[in-house]
Amino acid sequence: MSHSTAPIGVLDSGIGGFSVAKQVQRLLPRENLLYFGDGAHIPYGNHGEETIAAMAQYMISFLEERGVKALLVACNTISCILERCALSCPAFNAVQAGADAVAGLEVDKVGVISTVFTHNSQIYPRRILAQSPRKLVVLSCGCPDLARLVEHSLGDPEGMALVEENLRLELEHMVREERVDCCVLGCTHYPLVTDSIQKLYPGLPLIDPAEEMAQALRAYLDREGLANPQTAPGTLSVYTTGDVEEYALRARQVGLERVSKVEYYPPMDIS
Ligand code: DGL
Repeated sequence: MSHSTAPIGVLDSGIGGFSVAKQVQRLLPRENLLYFGDGAHIPYGNHGEETIAAMAQYMISFLEERGVKALLVACNTISCILERCALSCPAFNAVQAGADAVAGLEVDKVGVISTVFTHNSQIYPRRILAQSPRKLVVLSCGCPDLARLVEHSLGDPEGMALVEENLRLELEHMVREERVDCCVLGCTHYPLVTDSIQKLYPGLPLIDPAEEMAQALRAYLDREGLANPQTAPGTLSVYTTGDVEEYALRARQVGLERVSKVEYYPPMDIS
C-alpha cells in the first residue's frame, strides 16, 4: 500500500537522471527522492537488450525494496525495454514523456538524438507519430559516445571540448541540412549540456522530457492523494555503483539540492 510520505525512486545508467531529479525538486520540492545511478555499467546504450533488462531490474528491485511510491525511469534506453521488467509500483518513463511533449507542439520536422540502442529501437519515431495529431517527419540519430562523455566531463574544460566536438558531429546534419524545427533530447544525459548545445546551435528549440515527466508525476500524486504532506523540503539520497566522490561532485555541478547522502552500492555481476 503506497503511502504519501514514501520516497520517489529515480533510476538511470549514470548521472543522466540528475536532469530529471532536478525538475522534480523544482516542481515537487516536498518529495523525498531515492536516486540509483549504475555508474559501473554506463553506457547502457551500447549494451544488448537482455543485459539492459537485467540491469534495469536490479535497480528497480533496489528502489522498490526501499518502499518507493512511484518510479521515474529517467533513462530513455531502459524505457525502450521497460515492458520486460517486473514493476510493482507506478512508473513514468522518459520516452513516453518525450513523445507527449512533442504532441503538444506545432512543428513539422522533429529531430531526436539518443543512445544507439534507443535509436535502433525506433521507439521515438513510432511513439511520436502514433500520438501526434499532425503529419510529422521524425529524424532519429544514435550517438555512441555522447552519454559517456557527458558523464565524465562536466566542469572539465578539456572534457567539455570533446562533448562539443561530439555534439557537432551528431547534430550538424540534422540541424543544418535537415533543418529540424526542434530537437528532442532523447537521452537524459544530454539536458546536462544544454548550454553547449545552445552555444553551437542558438535558437534551436530543445525538448527535455524531464519536465513532462515531473508534471505527469505531480498529476498522478495529486489524483491519488499521494503528494507528500510534510512542510519541510524533501531530501535526495543518491546510490551509485560508480564513484561516490564523482557522483557527489556531479550532483553539486548539476545544481541538485538537499543531497542527504551519496552512497556506494555493489553493481550487478553481468560477466
Ligand atoms: N541516460 C540514458 C538514457 O537516457 C542512457 C545513457 C547510457 O547509459 O548509454 O538513455
